[in-house]
Amino acid sequence: MQEIKIELTKNPKAKPADQSKLGFGKIFTDHMYIMPYNKEKGWHDPRIEPYHSLELDPSAMVFHYGQEMFEGMKAYRAEDGRTLLFRPDRNIARANNSNRRICIPEVPEDDFMNALKTLVSIEKDWIPTAPGTSLYIRPFIIATDPFLGVRPSDTYLFMIILSPSGAYYESGLDPVKIWIEDDYVRAVRGGIGEAKTGGNYVASLKAQMKAHEEGYSQVLWLDGVERKYIEEVGAMNIFFKINGKVVTPMLNGSILPGVTRASCLDLCRHWGMEVEERRVSVEELVAAARDGSLEECWGSGTAAVISPVGALRFGDEVMEISSGGIGPVSQKLYDTVTGIQTGKAEDPFGWVVEVK
Ligand code: COI
Repeated sequence: MQEIKIELTKNPKAKPADQSKLGFGKIFTDHMYIMPYNKEKGWHDPRIEPYHSLELDPSAMVFHYGQEMFEGMKAYRAEDGRTLLFRPDRNIARANNSNRRICIPEVPEDDFMNALKTLVSIEKDWIPTAPGTSLYIRPFIIATDPFLGVRPSDTYLFMIILSPSGAYYESGLDPVKIWIEDDYVRAVRGGIGEAKTGGNYVASLKAQMKAHEEGYSQVLWLDGVERKYIEEVGAMNIFFKINGKVVTPMLNGSILPGVTRASCLDLCRHWGMEVEERRVSVEELVAAARDGSLEECWGSGTAAVISPVGALRFGDEVMEISSGGIGPVSQKLYDTVTGIQTGKAEDPFGWVVEVK
């Protein structure tokens, strides 16, 4: 493992005074992590520095062909003062899956973990403690070769920035309304849907604008081939409770393998619920909504945690779910996942990792 060179800021910023007004991803802490890559040295010279802007050549490949990977994680301050990360090993493994898919060299897992722990430890006084808040962690890698040909870059920067944040949706835990999109698609099998990379998110903007104009906060994507099977929400994976069973689309290469998704599946199984990972068609969903067997729907994601869905719209059909309120499984998952993350609830699977 490489030693991180640390330079602390001489001008620390004032921390946000009102933790109820943090919003999501708007404020950044005093320091950042940065590690360059080149062919000769590989990943080398990791540093933690005062947070700063970057100087990049306008021809840097990331600006033109989008060769970049990112991750999302959170750090929490437990009531007993411990600083906790939630399943960081999963995010590190997923980051390297994304890297492989888009031809970015993998980051050694121990360097990645050391980077997270060291940076979060330096910035631990930035972790907000008000309910529903956390320190959002954004690791990312960009391609930096100054070159306009299409090929993988030979140089990269791996960085981590931190943002004290509140709820991802302004509505907090209030149920969101979701638009099922059957025109635009997010990803296709064989594409980059299961990698966490900017291209998947830029692909979602047009439909998101359309949904917003109609009064819906997010888009639920259908598969890119038949536009028939439910995939994910972009910022979240999606779960349904149909006829007493917890159902979520199975991973198929075009869906992001969410860490919170995996945690919901583990918890529901642990509670003895029947759980199915399978294809879910939009017809099945509409039929279940019509005959009353669609009992609950929620999204899962790092930023959004558990986000109850109060209404789904497909074409002219508006499906109200759990009478527009928070269903019992969504509530139990939210309480348990956030309880484990903040050290309040028992952690039966050993998911939290303490940062010293
Ligand atoms: C997450 O961190 O949960 C994300 O999916 C990234 C983002 C869309 C906020």
